[in-house]
Amino acid sequence: MAQKTKKKVPAAKRNGSVRVEPKQFSIAELVRELNSFSVDNYWDLGKFLVDKVMPVARKAGMFEDQVLKMVSSHPGIKFPFSMLKQCQQYYTYFPDVKKRPLPEVFYFDLATKIDESKKRDQFEKMAIDNHWTISDLRKKIHDDETARRLDERTKYGFDLRERNVWTFETPDPRFGKPNHKGRLPGQIIANALYYYTKPGDYIVDPLAGTGTLGDIVDTVPHFHDRKHKMYDIEPTDERIVRNNVLLTGIPEQSGTVDYVFLDPPAEFTQKDSTSGFDVGLDASKADFALKFKGILRECARILKSGGRASIVIEPAFAVGEFIDYPSEVTQLFREMGFKTIGKVYLPRRSGESITRSAAQGISELRGIRILSSDCRELLTFQKS
Ligand SMILES: C[S@@+](CC[C@H](N)C(=O)[O-])C[C@H]1O[C@@H](n2cnc3c(N)ncnc32)[C@H](O)[C@@H]1O
Repeated sequence: MAQKTKKKVPAAKRNGSVRVEPKQFSIAELVRELNSFSVDNYWDLGKFLVDKVMPVARKAGMFEDQVLKMVSSHPGIKFPFSMLKQCQQYYTYFPDVKKRPLPEVFYFDLATKIDESKKRDQFEKMAIDNHWTISDLRKKIHDDETARRLDERTKYGFDLRERNVWTFETPDPRFGKPNHKGRLPGQIIANALYYYTKPGDYIVDPLAGTGTLGDIVDTVPHFHDRKHKMYDIEPTDERIVRNNVLLTGIPEQSGTVDYVFLDPPAEFTQKDSTSGFDVGLDASKADFALKFKGILRECARILKSGGRASIVIEPAFAVGEFIDYPSEVTQLFREMGFKTIGKVYLPRRSGESITRSAAQGISELRGIRILSSDCRELLTFQKS
């Protein structure tokens, strides 16, 4: 059962000194004052900030966070900005903490971990009714936050990622056709559409494969307001128009497209997959430049100004040499007047089939040890 902590005596009263009240705004004086609080005296520190410092700061035309940032960057201050902010929040939400039934530390956690006042009240009630310890409270708040994030991630109809490493162990079965070589987990395309397109956008996938992109736009309500067109040299369904991008480019009008998604086949970056690369490194690079220059020129032509293109690409490890395709492709996009606006890492799923040169793994060819790529990149560029 939770124990009520001893009431804290303000540091200033404990050491008998009289606190200087900042009549005029002086940072050095304020820092001295703040430093006199003991580190566990959060409520008193919060009270001092709210009752004494903020009114003076407001009169001086400053915002609250501005004051806290200024103070916390002053040499010698022992409280970081986050701590001052937490103390301010603690006092603001619980000015009556000393009259409340739970120990003060419970209210500090409630104030600094829960934004919604109704939710703080609910947690306080649950903690009282169920005789929670502080660890119980922290765990319940953590579980609640995890559940909230999960809701948030799935509320758009797919597994939304918030950071720039996207790993999906299982492809979402709704998107793309199973057993199709090169099919990308649909969650990757869904996240790309979420971050790089907007309502009303016209989206083109010139290397559509199993139609994963179309499945997402057609089935996820969040993307219903986007329009799309898919092309492939070997269409897998009637929505995909037959087209060889290397021969005829992308059959769209100039300046009409908002977003192009490029998921090139492995053969676009591996000229001779049976040779393990060692015969034709220069030839591979030249072949890559030829193919991609043509495709990127087409992207530049069909995209509107401000339009975007994403590409899935990975480096190649050859015998004794390494081709950094992501950086090569970035160079080509830049030469065509694009700027880079996104970089996401796409680690391979465990057991996912990889290309021949990568499949060599930790092997030796003529005594040279070879690494293999296990992480693709999703690079996104914007036309100026
Ligand atoms: C990696 S797959 C794309 C997979 C797709 N993103 C998906 O999730 O299903 C590459 C696709 O490019 C197509 N392709 C290869 N060469 C092509 C070309 N010259 N023109 C158009 N499509 C081509 C292949 O048929 C293959 O479907």
